Amino acid sequence: MIIAPSLLAANYARFGPEAARAARAGADWLHLDIMDGQFVPNISFGPGVVAAVRPHAKKLFFDVHLMCGQPEILLEPFARAGADLITVHVELGDKIPALLWKIKSLGKKVGLAINPPTAITAALPYLDKIDLLLVMTVNPGFGGQSFIHECLPKIQQADAWRRERKLTYHLEVDGGINHLTAAECARAGADTFVAGTSLFGAHSLKNAVTKMRKIVNGSDPGLADLAI
Ligand code: DX5
Ligand code: ZN
Repeated sequence: MIIAPSLLAANYARFGPEAARAARAGADWLHLDIMDGQFVPNISFGPGVVAAVRPHAKKLFFDVHLMCGQPEILLEPFARAGADLITVHVELGDKIPALLWKIKSLGKKVGLAINPPTAITAALPYLDKIDLLLVMTVNPGFGGQSFIHECLPKIQQADAWRRERKLTYHLEVDGGINHLTAAECARAGADTFVAGTSLFGAHSLKNAVTKMRKIVNGSDPGLADLAI
């Protein structure tokens, strides 16, 4: 189980120390949400910022989520900036095969994301070419939104395909993940949990990461109830 705090919910004036804080808190990955103001109605930060943050958290795995309409112009810059995994959106359609190939050729892990309104079958042609499938659990663009429960069957389906086809991609969830919804996603088959508000917004990031890890490992409804 992988806990990936999202830097989008950290203090924008202190990204370096916030990334270091996530590492000290026991996070496995750092999730970096890149928004271009076109694919989503918001702008976050670019490769220059990621490169500046990288030395503050040398051991953290950098999980770069591109919510961008033209990721082809960003793959090399983010690879150079220190990304370990780069995710592009399946909604980009015909561009996807070349994008996945390019990410792999840059020596990075390959991720594919799917928005809540998009049918999970859109990911089917790519399952054997990816290291991670990101099932969005909010409509991308902003942190702090509520988890969309209708996404849970998509996680179950993606997990079933993974088992049937003997594949090993990570199954990641992103958006509205707190201790309660993380438990629901874990029961549905997710293994990688992106959380912004519920982790960086917690009184103690370390306690929040530890508690989320216990809950998703146990997948215990009792524990989840206690976490409310
Ligand atoms: C949406 C982002 C968010 C974010 C997580 O575009 O991808 O999902 O990282 O934020 P919270 O945990 O605040 O929903
Ligand atoms: Zn994200």
